[in-house]
Amino acid sequence: MNRILLAALIAWGGCVQAGEVDGLLERTRQEVLPVLPKVAGMMKHTVETEGVAAAIPVCKEKAPELMAEKAASLGWKIRRVSLKPRNAQRATPDAWEQAQLEAFDRRRAAGEDPKGIEVGEIVAAADGTRVFRYMKALPVAPVCVQCHGERDALAPELRAAIEQAYPQDRATGYAPGDLRGALSVTRPL
Ligand code: HEC
Repeated sequence: MNRILLAALIAWGGCVQAGEVDGLLERTRQEVLPVLPKVAGMMKHTVETEGVAAAIPVCKEKAPELMAEKAASLGWKIRRVSLKPRNAQRATPDAWEQAQLEAFDRRRAAGEDPKGIEVGEIVAAADGTRVFRYMKALPVAPVCVQCHGERDALAPELRAAIEQAYPQDRATGYAPGDLRGALSVTRPL
C-alpha cells in the first residue's frame, strides 16, 4: 500500500476512535452525572435537619444504592474510588483507576477547576473485550469536611462512630477544593 494512503487510513482510524469516544462520553455523562447532585442534596438536607452523624448513611448506603440502581438498569459498573479510601473493600482503585486518580490530582495541582476533571477511554478489559471506562472527579465541598476534614477537628461523637465502623479509615485530612476521589464507570461495548 502506498505510504500516503496508509497515513490517511491511520488518521481516519484515529478520527473514528475519537468520534466514538465523544459519543460514549456524552451518553455516560447524561446517564450517571445526575446521581451526584441527588446525593449532595440529600447529604446537605440530612446534615441540616438531623445533624451530621445522621448523614453517615447517606455516604455509606444511599450513594452506593443510587449508583447500584443506575448500574443495574444500564448493565454498567458504577462505583466510587479514592486514593485514600474510607471503605477499602469498596473503594480501592484498580491499576487504571489509580493512574487516573493520580493524573486528576496533578491536573488539580496545575490549577484546573476540580468540577470539570474527568476522563473517558476505550480500553481492553482483562478478558480481551473492549470496554469504555469513565471517571469523574469528586471534589470536596464544605459539607464534606465535617466527615472528611482533619481528624482532630471532627465532632467527637461522629469521629467515634467513624472510627468504630472504619478502623482503617484513611479518608480524613481533606479541605474544600481537594479531590476526595472519583466516580468510576465501566461500560461493555
Ligand atoms: C456524614 C458524614 C459524611 C459526609 C458529610 C460525607 N461523607 Fe463521604 N463518606 C462517609 C462514609 C461513612 C463513607 C464510607 C462509605 C462506605 O462504607 O462505602 C464515605 C465514603 C465516601 C467516598 C467513597 C470512597 C471511600 O473513601 O470509601 C467518597 C468518594 C466520598 N465519601 C465523598 C464525599 C463527598 C464528596 C462528600 C461531600 C459532598 C462527602 N463524602 C461527605 C461519610 C461522609
